[in-house]
Amino acid sequence: MKNILFVTSEAAPFIKTGGLADVAGSLPKCFNKEEFDCRVILPKYQCMSEEWKNQLKYVTHFYMNLSWRSQYVGILELEYDGVHFYFIDNEYYFSGPKPYGNIYQDIEKFAFFSKAALSALPSIGFRPDIVHCHDWETGLIPVMLKDKFQEGEFYRGIKSVITIHNLKFQGVWDVKTVRDITGLPAYYFTPDKLEAYGDANYLKGGIVYADAITTVSDTYAEEIKMPFYGERLDGLMRARSNDLRGIVNGIDYEVWNPETDPLIEHHYTAKNFRKEKIKNKRALQRELGLEQNDSSFMVGIVSRLTDQKGFDLIAYMMDEMCQNDLQIVVLGTGEEKYEDMFRHFAWKYQGKVSANIFYSEALSHKVYAACDAFLMPSLFEPCGLSQIISLRYGTVPVVRETGGLKDTVQPYNEYESTGTGFSFANYNAHEMYNTLKYAMSIYYNKKREWNKIIDRGMAVDFSWNSSARKYEEMYNWLLGC
Ligand code: ADP
Ligand code: GLC
Repeated sequence: MKNILFVTSEAAPFIKTGGLADVAGSLPKCFNKEEFDCRVILPKYQCMSEEWKNQLKYVTHFYMNLSWRSQYVGILELEYDGVHFYFIDNEYYFSGPKPYGNIYQDIEKFAFFSKAALSALPSIGFRPDIVHCHDWETGLIPVMLKDKFQEGEFYRGIKSVITIHNLKFQGVWDVKTVRDITGLPAYYFTPDKLEAYGDANYLKGGIVYADAITTVSDTYAEEIKMPFYGERLDGLMRARSNDLRGIVNGIDYEVWNPETDPLIEHHYTAKNFRKEKIKNKRALQRELGLEQNDSSFMVGIVSRLTDQKGFDLIAYMMDEMCQNDLQIVVLGTGEEKYEDMFRHFAWKYQGKVSANIFYSEALSHKVYAACDAFLMPSLFEPCGLSQIISLRYGTVPVVRETGGLKDTVQPYNEYESTGTGFSFANYNAHEMYNTLKYAMSIYYNKKREWNKIIDRGMAVDFSWNSSARKYEEMYNWLLGC
């Protein structure tokens, strides 16, 4: 049996702000259970719902030194869907209304979490062969494993993997403070190790010290070796390209299943969506106060409202878009300028635009089920799960050809009758608009073609089946088996 430990700052269904939670919550149960025992460790945030907090079982607690501080580490556990989840408890670090706060707080919070996650292992009696880290929050772990933890018999020889879900976020703060927080010696703070451009950089530390590096699509793995997508670490990505691989994300086919989804009103399948899916559109129009109209082209957006996702293109085209017979349903939170932008257009085009500026798992399922198309014109997109969920729900994605969007959405070709969605290449508002208009013209004028696009989209397999095997191969390669 090979032991794998996922260390992550979020995991669904316990706590989620984005796609990382979906991945950390669904991938571990997809490994071959005869061969791999994959467990997950994450913070016990105070903002987790009571429903989950009440189910956690106390395991043990101890005090741990973090540089000159001595901190309480509580450990709780829960077995869910056949997977062991461990939760690190510390009220000083993990209170607050959201998992992430100001970066200077997060820098200390995740230094604590990373060290606590490793320190907890002997007391829970689980020695991983591989620690699999996710994003900058856990970037210090490969560093720590090569540092002090090597002194303990228990930790010697443990391998580490880091998966980059988003290179934009690197966990950067000044060297002096990070040295003070972590207690790591000056040795580590040079440009070939943790330092980048004069500051300490957690993600860089992880990338330098991990035994293997993955990211969440093939295209993104290539893109980040170039300056435009490399977020100033493209040189490092090129240097480590032999140890970097892209493994595309899957989604949980039980959670995201239009045939059984308890969060949608009307179930449907790849066979009967032509008749049944529309019932969800009617229900959502009613719920959100949109005009009751079966034929209106309904476009969905479920997203963090940030520049990454291409909202400046949408802001630029909103007025023109709304001159068409369409409806736009937005669910998301994020940058104030985009929240206000959507509120404004919902006011200006009542009955046509619905702005839902909050987080809701339940509403997200309804949007995926109800809409005709899903718009995701990202500036960059490591993988993207929303377009994959859309494909599964027979909602046709309209995307920009970048990162995982390029790898998961095959553009419609009307001459060959192939493709599962619509896409455009350049980050340009009119290109996006023309692509959306093209999609709309197929929807209105060639309904049979449109439905065949849905047929093909619903037939593609984006469960974890093939990607989980690729992670297993990598684990085996790392362990020399
Ligand atoms: P990212 O991780 O960059 O935010 P992904 O497409 O990989 O983008 O994953 C986003 C996930 O978060 C999807 O499961 C999406 O449905 C969900 N999501 C984003 N915003 C909201 C929201 N306001 N309410 C509910 N779910 C949301
Ligand atoms: C990140 C990326 C997104 C990816 C997700 C899960 O948040 O922005 O593209 O799907 O991580 O890997």
